[in-house]
Amino acid sequence: MSESSGLIRGLEGVVAAETQLCDLDGAHGRLAYRGYDIADLARQASFEEVTYLLLHGELPKPAQLDALVVALTAAREIPGELVQAFRLMPTATDPMRALQAAVAMLGMSDPEATDNAHAANVRKAVRLTSQLATAICAHHRVRQGQQPVAPVAGLSHAGNFLFMLTGERPGPAATRAFDASLTLYAEHELNASTFTTRVVTSTQSDMHSAVAAGVGALKGPLHGGAGEAVMRTLLEIGEVANVDAFAERALAEKRRLMGFGHRVYKAGDPRAAILRGMAEEACRQSGQFKWYEMAVKLHERIGKAKGLIPNVDFYSAPLFYSLGIPVDLFTPVIAAGRIAGWTANIVEQHDDNRLIRPRAEYVGPKRRDWVPKERR
Ligand SMILES: CC(C)(COP(=O)(O)OP(=O)(O)OC[C@H]1O[C@@H](n2cnc3c(N)ncnc32)[C@H](O)[C@@H]1OP(=O)(O)O)[C@@H](O)C(=O)NCCC(=O)NCCS
Repeated sequence: MSESSGLIRGLEGVVAAETQLCDLDGAHGRLAYRGYDIADLARQASFEEVTYLLLHGELPKPAQLDALVVALTAAREIPGELVQAFRLMPTATDPMRALQAAVAMLGMSDPEATDNAHAANVRKAVRLTSQLATAICAHHRVRQGQQPVAPVAGLSHAGNFLFMLTGERPGPAATRAFDASLTLYAEHELNASTFTTRVVTSTQSDMHSAVAAGVGALKGPLHGGAGEAVMRTLLEIGEVANVDAFAERALAEKRRLMGFGHRVYKAGDPRAAILRGMAEEACRQSGQFKWYEMAVKLHERIGKAKGLIPNVDFYSAPLFYSLGIPVDLFTPVIAAGRIAGWTANIVEQHDDNRLIRPRAEYVGPKRRDWVPKERR
């Protein structure tokens, strides 16, 4: 930070918005959505209830939850043109790039795309939450040369996601674990992608444009892309017996270890603690317990050597892997959860908007005379 200009690199510690959505206590490792502790929500609420809570401020009464489930279910279909567009994309395209394009395209067919009124934004949030899930699964099927699996009514949002991904009805344990993962990823204050959605929103652009930008921010390995990188690290290590040698090498090379460290949490990420238990259970169920064991060993080794804490993306990697989610879909899955928070933040920003437009400290050359081409 430069004293003269007040420059704060990475906006660390800067408070840039008021929010009623997320209470993040980094010093004590605590997190709550609208006052409800994340552990209670992950263990007891469905993702649909969390979506309602974030959008409306209170947990839904049974009739309110039923109405949301009906609205989410009704919005599951995506336009045929979007599936056609998936077919035209190179099969090697990163699913996050495809998702970003998909969100922009969904904006082309949404009847209220440019209506920024509160009620219209809430309706769009519900539609986009549903359609985003369908788009991720449809793109995955198409890139593999398969037909998309049509969504089914009667399955929860989480259950339907796994169904559209695999074509098979998921068991209750997998559905529950996936549902809780969506909840754990649903909201996290002004993380980079949510801040991005707010910046776009602050120009009075619209929800689809803001979410497409948020998808772009989430893609990076310092943000949502970390989970995928964690799994690639575990796959690179291969066996529990190799963890120590890997850790030693990584520490000697001063490698940035994905899934470790956090800008705000210093005492521990409460989501990681919950995901650790879920990963243990899922890895045991899948018969691939070694991924959990490797993660624990790496966590202990890196924690001891560098004092770094595992963040949300560390234990979600072995969890998602044992749920059968392809590694390059880990970040899209995070987007499928974070859409609840992104859209709630967009609603909140629109409701009390001021253009977000910070300053930069100029450190380039002093003012100088123009030099014509022949004299350069
Ligand atoms: C999340 C993250 C970007 C936060 O970073 P930040 O607040 O900008 O912190 P910095 O990058 O300034 O790091 C501070 C110190 O911790 C070290 N550090 C932080 N995270 C580290 C990691 N994952 N591996 C190795 N060292 C790390 C840095 O090298 C730095 O050390 P130094 O002061 O000796 O140079 C960072 O911890 C990181 O890159 N983690 C890996 C990516 C990841 O898991 N992202 C998901 C976040 S939920």
